[in-house]
Amino acid sequence: MTTAVKMFDLQSAAGPIGASISGLDLSEPVDDTTFSAIEDALNRHAVIVIRDNLLTAPQLAAFSRRFGSPQINVRKEARNADTPEIFWISNITENGKPVGSHDAGRYWHSDLCYLEAPSKLTLLNAIEVPARDGQVFGDTQFASATAAYDALPGAMKSRLDGLEAANGYRYMWNKKAHEFGLRPVLSEAELEARFPPDALHPIVRTHPVTGRKCLYVCEGYTHAIAGLPRDESDALLQELFDHLANPAFHYRHQWRVGDLLMWDNCAVQHKATNDYDLPLRRLMQRCTIEGTAPA
Ligand code: SIN
Repeated sequence: MTTAVKMFDLQSAAGPIGASISGLDLSEPVDDTTFSAIEDALNRHAVIVIRDNLLTAPQLAAFSRRFGSPQINVRKEARNADTPEIFWISNITENGKPVGSHDAGRYWHSDLCYLEAPSKLTLLNAIEVPARDGQVFGDTQFASATAAYDALPGAMKSRLDGLEAANGYRYMWNKKAHEFGLRPVLSEAELEARFPPDALHPIVRTHPVTGRKCLYVCEGYTHAIAGLPRDESDALLQELFDHLANPAFHYRHQWRVGDLLMWDNCAVQHKATNDYDLPLRRLMQRCTIEGTAPA
């Protein structure tokens, strides 16, 4: 369905989330009316792509700041040195050093869920997209946390009511280090010195704008439900991760150079697709915006 919106064209995706916007130049400041329409589209579709905007880091940072306070990622080596609120994601190595994070987003997750105040919004801009013979690789997949919650049986909704779980960057670090080998395994002391402690968040949170309930457990970071024995906690978390993986809740974004993809980290979870390798290059720049403590 194509909807004529005053300031741009918006096309909804087929499933519960996702929409595409064209006819918008973000290299210059957008006026307040246009900005409100973008926010409205985000609240309705949870994931939107604004096409044809290959931005500089300062332009991406300036547009991102319209939504709130940009977060400075805990991984210093992956930040843009001149614009530290911009974080590089790539598979490229230059002068023997990885450009940004080489294993970002490999598990289903919501950005910076390991902080007391996780990201409300992420903006990801495609600079280089891996492609060969017309086939594009490195899609980003999204799962509607709202649709996933709505589809839970009533008994499960009651069981989750009031439960909280630990979300850990330190946990994720070594999980990725062991599974993908693209970062060193760190000792407990090193993890504690470099990264924040776990954040305890409700398993079901309420969206601060839409008021809808969202399932908030992340395969990559959520590792223990408070007050439950380990085996019960593991089994329940796995059941919820499996539930979120149901394609009925999904939107899959196939990238074009210049796409600016934006997503609501309460309403959706996401996951990168690792189906390419050098010499196919992927280079993305990302900014996340601080949200409120999940409630
Ligand atoms: C992310 O998890 O923020 C990155 C996703 C991607 O690179 O596709």
